[in-house]
Amino acid sequence: MNTYHAHIGGRPFAAEAGAIMTTFAATNAATGAHLADIARCGAAEIDAAVAAARRALPAWKATTYETRSALLNRLADALEAQAPRLARIDAQDIGRRLAETLIDYQIAVAQYRYFAGAILTHEGHGRPIPDGYLIAKREPIGVVGQIIPWNVPAIMVALKVAPALAAGNTIVLKPDENASLSTLEFAAIAARIFPPGVVNVVPGFGEEAGAALTRHPGVAKLAFTGSAEVGRIIGHAGAERLVPVSLELGGKSPNIVFPDIEDIGAVVDNALFAAMYCNGQSCLAGTRLFVHDDIYRPFTEALAGAAARIRVGDPLAADTRLSCLVSERQGARVLDYIGLGKAEGARLLAGGERVRVPGCEAGCFVRPTIFEARNDMRIAQEEIFGPVLSVIRWRDHDAMLREANDVRYGLAAGIYTAGLENAMRTADALEAGSVWINHYFNLNSGSPFGGVKESGIGREHCHETLNLYSHVKSITVQNRVSAPQFVPPGQV
Ligand code: NAI
Ligand code: MG
Repeated sequence: MNTYHAHIGGRPFAAEAGAIMTTFAATNAATGAHLADIARCGAAEIDAAVAAARRALPAWKATTYETRSALLNRLADALEAQAPRLARIDAQDIGRRLAETLIDYQIAVAQYRYFAGAILTHEGHGRPIPDGYLIAKREPIGVVGQIIPWNVPAIMVALKVAPALAAGNTIVLKPDENASLSTLEFAAIAARIFPPGVVNVVPGFGEEAGAALTRHPGVAKLAFTGSAEVGRIIGHAGAERLVPVSLELGGKSPNIVFPDIEDIGAVVDNALFAAMYCNGQSCLAGTRLFVHDDIYRPFTEALAGAAARIRVGDPLAADTRLSCLVSERQGARVLDYIGLGKAEGARLLAGGERVRVPGCEAGCFVRPTIFEARNDMRIAQEEIFGPVLSVIRWRDHDAMLREANDVRYGLAAGIYTAGLENAMRTADALEAGSVWINHYFNLNSGSPFGGVKESGIGREHCHETLNLYSHVKSITVQNRVSAPQFVPPGQV
C-alpha cells in the first residue's frame, strides 16, 4: 500500500529520524476501498515547505518570462500525457464520473498553456518624464500559500499554480483532505520540470496544515478556494499579517428562464446540467432556477421528467450520468437539506432520496432532486453542494431581479431568452462575477472567474489573475542629480 508524503524541495518529505509520522487514509468514495495513506502534516512540514520555497525564490524570480512559459508548457504536456491515469485516481478518490474528471484535466492543461502564453505579455509600463524615465514593473510577491477544496482537484491546482508560477512566485499548496492523491502525483510531475522548491505540496487537515500555512510569517500572499466560513478565517489570517488574500468561495447562482425561449427541451437540459454537473458539488452550480409563469407548467414537467431519467450509478461506468457525493459527511449534509426543504414546505418535483448502487455500497448517491421553492427558503439561500435544485416561479421582471440578487453570494448566473434586450438588461442587473447567456458553465480560457459579495475577492482564470500574483514597483530615473522638485526656483 502506497504512503504519500508531502512533496517539499523537489522530493517526498521524510520526517526527521525518530519522529512519529501519523497518516490519514484516502478512500474510494464509492466503494470505501482503502486507496493509500497520506502523511498528516502540520506546522513542521509547513515550516520545511516555506523554507524550501523561500530558498527557491531568488533564482525562480530571476528566470525570464520565456523560461517560465516553456516550463509551464512542459507541465501541460506532461499532465496531458498522464491525464487518463490521474483522472482515474480522482474519480475513485472523490466519486465523480470518470468522464467528468477527464474533462477536469483538459481544463487544467488549458490553464497551464493559457498562463504560459499570458505571462509573455504581462508587461509593466513606462514613460519619459523631464530628464528621465518612469518605469513601472511587475514583480512577483514571494512565497504564496494556497489552499484548495476537493470538488475538482485538477482544475483547482491549475487555477492556483499556473498564474502564481507564471508571475514568478514559489508555492506551498495544501490540497483537501478528501482529494490529495492526484495533487501529490502532480507534485511529483512538477518536480521533474521545475527547480526544487518552486512547487511544494503539503497534505493534511485544514485546522492543522491549513492553519499553519495561513499564519506562517514566511508566506507573502494567501489564495483560497472553499467555503465562505473558512474563507473568512483565511481573510482574518491575512489581515493579521497584512498580506493580500484572494478568495473564491461559494455560490447560489440564479439561472433565469424567460417565456420567449424557443426550445423548452434544450433549456431543460441546460438547467439540469447547470445544477447537477459534478453531482452538484460545484461553486458555480445554477441552483436557483427562475422559471417564468407563462411556461412554468410545461417547463417544470419536462424538467422533472428529465431529472428522473438521469442515470445514477458507479463513477467508473460509462453510462452513469450522476454519481456519489465525496463523503458520507457531505452526503449527510445534502440529505439534511432535502429534509429541511420538505419541512420548509417546498414541494418535491423529483428525487429527494438516497439510492443504493450495487458494488458501490459505501457511496452516498442522491437522486437528482428538484424542489418548487420560494427564494426566502433556506434551501434557496444556502449552498447545498449536492444534486438539489430549487425552482422559483416569476412573473414581474423587476421583482424577479430583486429575488435573484437577494442572496449572500454572487458567483455566477445564467439567462435563457431569445431577446437581446432581455438578456443584456438582466445581465447588467445581476450581482454576479460571471453571467452566461443561453448556456451555462462555459468557461473559456481567459474568462474571468470569481465572485462578488460573499463569493469572494479576485478573478482567476484570466490575464488579470497575474496581477493577484504580482505587484507593481515604480522606478523613477533622473539622468542627473537636479534640484529637489517641489522647491520654487532660487530657494533650496
Ligand atoms: P472547507 O472550506 O472546509 O475546505 C476547503 C479547504 O480549506 C480544505 O483544503 C480544508 O482543509 C481547508 N481548511 C478548512 N479549515 C481550515 C482552516 N481553519 N484553516 C485553513 N484551511 C482550512 O470546505 P468543506 O468542509 O470541504 O465543504 C463545506 C462546504 O463548503 C461545502 O458543502 C460547500 O458548500 C462549500 N465548498 C465550496 C467550494 C468552492 O468551490 N467554492 C469547494 C468546497 C466546499
Ligand atoms: Mg476519497
